[in-house]
Amino acid sequence: MINPAGIVFDAYGTLLDVTSTATICEARFPGFGSALSDLWRRRQLEYSWLRSLMGRHVDFSRVTADALDFALAALELKPSEDDRTALLRSYLTLAPFPEVPAALAQLSAFRRLVLSNGSEAMLEPALTYAGVRDQLQAVLSVERVGVFKPAPQVYALAVVHLGCAPHEALFVSSNGWDIAGAAAFGLHTCWLNRSGAPLEQLGVQPEMVVADLAELVGMLVTDDA
Ligand code: LAC
Repeated sequence: MINPAGIVFDAYGTLLDVTSTATICEARFPGFGSALSDLWRRRQLEYSWLRSLMGRHVDFSRVTADALDFALAALELKPSEDDRTALLRSYLTLAPFPEVPAALAQLSAFRRLVLSNGSEAMLEPALTYAGVRDQLQAVLSVERVGVFKPAPQVYALAVVHLGCAPHEALFVSSNGWDIAGAAAFGLHTCWLNRSGAPLEQLGVQPEMVVADLAELVGMLVTDDA
């Protein structure tokens, strides 16, 4: 599959480096930067799945705040209101992975979308801050369907937007569980395995596995294109 009708990117962990919150976590809570950042992200994902199962959707900024409060309490850290505000605001100023801005520009022959758990109020400023918003034709949030990934109706948003069949679009994510959800829905998938993680055992396989976005560019863009 070398000519997708559109390339659909996950945002957090794929284009935007959520581990970059470790810097502010460390500045506010010396010695706890990585532990706080990792637990915060893990609970953020778990809460998104649990809320979807519970049928109690709230937007991703609330999930992110709830996960932060849990992580702080679990590590027995006592934030001031200013600490909490600063940590939450860091989600609006996440660093892009280094190769991402150039790679998105090199994929300009394709329609490029973001499909994310984030709300538009989180995604638009973050993608603008990261310098990649201009490279995207649309930013689709799960808020349009009120349930988080990997619910199939989320992936359906992308194909409805593109006006194509699932097998005509390519989904790119660094999150193995997100790739499994997209593959189960019928999208072509490229797993951006930045960390050399083992394959998720969810009964579906990614079609392509790359180490970063530049590698995907090499697969989709030929010099004479
Ligand atoms: C997102 C999460 C899954 O951007 O990283 O949707």
